[in-house]
Amino acid sequence: MRAQAPKAIQCIAMAIAGLLAACDQDGSLEHPGKQTYERYCFACHASGVAGAPALDDTEAWTPRLARGRDALLQSVVQGMPPGMPPKGLCNTCTDERLLESIDYMIESITTGE
Ligand code: HEC
Repeated sequence: MRAQAPKAIQCIAMAIAGLLAACDQDGSLEHPGKQTYERYCFACHASGVAGAPALDDTEAWTPRLARGRDALLQSVVQGMPPGMPPKGLCNTCTDERLLESIDYMIESITTGE
C-alpha cells in the first residue's frame, strides 16, 4: 500500500490524456461509462455520501488511483465494507461495464468536472 508508485501514476495520467484527446476530437462523444456512473455510482460518489470519496476530492483519490485500475476494479467487484457495495449496486454489470464507469470516474477526478 505504501509502496512508491510514480510509475503507476504516470501510466494512469497517460491513459487519461489519451481518453481526453479522444473526447476533444468529437465533443458529442459520450464516455461509455457515463451512463453506468450516473445510474449507480453518482449517488454516493458525486458528493461523498457515507464516506465515499467524492470525485472532486483529488487528495482522497490519489493513493487509490496509484494502485491501478485493476486494483480499483477488484475493490468495486468485491465491494469495500461497510460503505462501498459490491459492484457499486450495479448487479447486472459485467466487469467490463464496471471498468468503464471506473474510467469515467478517473477522468472526472482528474479534470475536476
Ligand atoms: C452506496 C454508496 C456507493 C455506491 C452506490 C458506489 N460506491 Fe464506490 N465507494 C463507496 C465508498 C463508501 C467507498 C470507500 C470505501 C473505503 O475506502 O472503505 C467507495 C470506493 C470506491 C472506489 C475506490 C476503491 C479503492 O480501491 O480504493 C472506487 C473505484 C469506486 N468506489 C467505484 C464505484 C463505482 C464504479 C460505482 C458504481 C458502479 C460505485 N463506486 C458505487 C460508496 C459507494
